[in-house]
Amino acid sequence: AIPLILDCDPGHDDALAIMLAAADPRLNLLAITTVAGNQTLEKTTLNARRVCTIAGITGVPIAAGYDRPLVGELTVGEYIHGASGLDGPTFGEPTVPVVEEHAVELMRRLLLEHPEPVTLVPLGPLTNIAVLLRDHPEVRSQIREIVLMGGSTERGNIAPYSEFNVAVDPEAADLVLRSGLPVTMCGLNVTHQALVTPEVVARLRAIGGDLADACVDLLTFFGSGYERVFGLADPPLHDPVAVARVIDPSLVECVRVPVAVELTGTHTRGATVVDLHGKTGAPPNALVAMRLDTPRFWDLMVEAVTKLSA
Ligand code: BDR
Ligand code: CA
Repeated sequence: AIPLILDCDPGHDDALAIMLAAADPRLNLLAITTVAGNQTLEKTTLNARRVCTIAGITGVPIAAGYDRPLVGELTVGEYIHGASGLDGPTFGEPTVPVVEEHAVELMRRLLLEHPEPVTLVPLGPLTNIAVLLRDHPEVRSQIREIVLMGGSTERGNIAPYSEFNVAVDPEAADLVLRSGLPVTMCGLNVTHQALVTPEVVARLRAIGGDLADACVDLLTFFGSGYERVFGLADPPLHDPVAVARVIDPSLVECVRVPVAVELTGTHTRGATVVDLHGKTGAPPNALVAMRLDTPRFWDLMVEAVTKLSA
């Protein structure tokens, strides 16, 4: 199985990404690390514990990372994810603990200890990953690849041209994209091919049980936010797309192109400038996801929740 570490900010779509990563037999989830993003670090960490508790994911260490971006103030995603960061279901007291080690220290240690290179899957602002690469260059050879959810080849969501994860910490995203490591970017252009249709909700509901019910409640809340903010009836389930790419690369078609992060734009700070047609002459530095095999993606997601519900 492919060893991976999920770095996330749960978050509704992060929650389902955690379930997919823990359940799929082709993956070996080594750790879950948290970062401030959709909500404060305190809340995203609590939410990671809540998700693992309801999904029966035990034995995967959860470690908390940075509570703010490298530069400037934290912007949270409350307008979509609610006051808790995971509004919708009612959660009991989580039984899965958080470890004492800092997220970056846990990642460093696991990378150095693991017998084979590990895949990093960032699903929130890239603060933890950027600090790991900046302060611990010795881990580089132990990173197989970085498959992240963030950015867009098209327009943004938190601003006209900026996607949330990149816009919350543009300097961190810039550091990761310029790291020279193999980076795959699953942006809004591909995650908007993973729309939670009523049919998807019905498939999850049909699984039955507390976990499936919680997933339906999560997606219903998430959908109402998308409807209100973006006028989109079926919300895009962003983060699990990056996990799906790791599980089976043939699910997510990519192109190798130059990507830069706008750090100084008057109106576009945090935008990903994806040079699809080789206009800049810059060398390619990332694989950029373009097309999702949507039916197979939902099959994977439904299978994962079914397995965790058994
Ligand atoms: C990204 O931002 C967050 O709201 C989601 O969890 C996802 O990671 C989408 O822009
Ligand atoms: Ca996220």
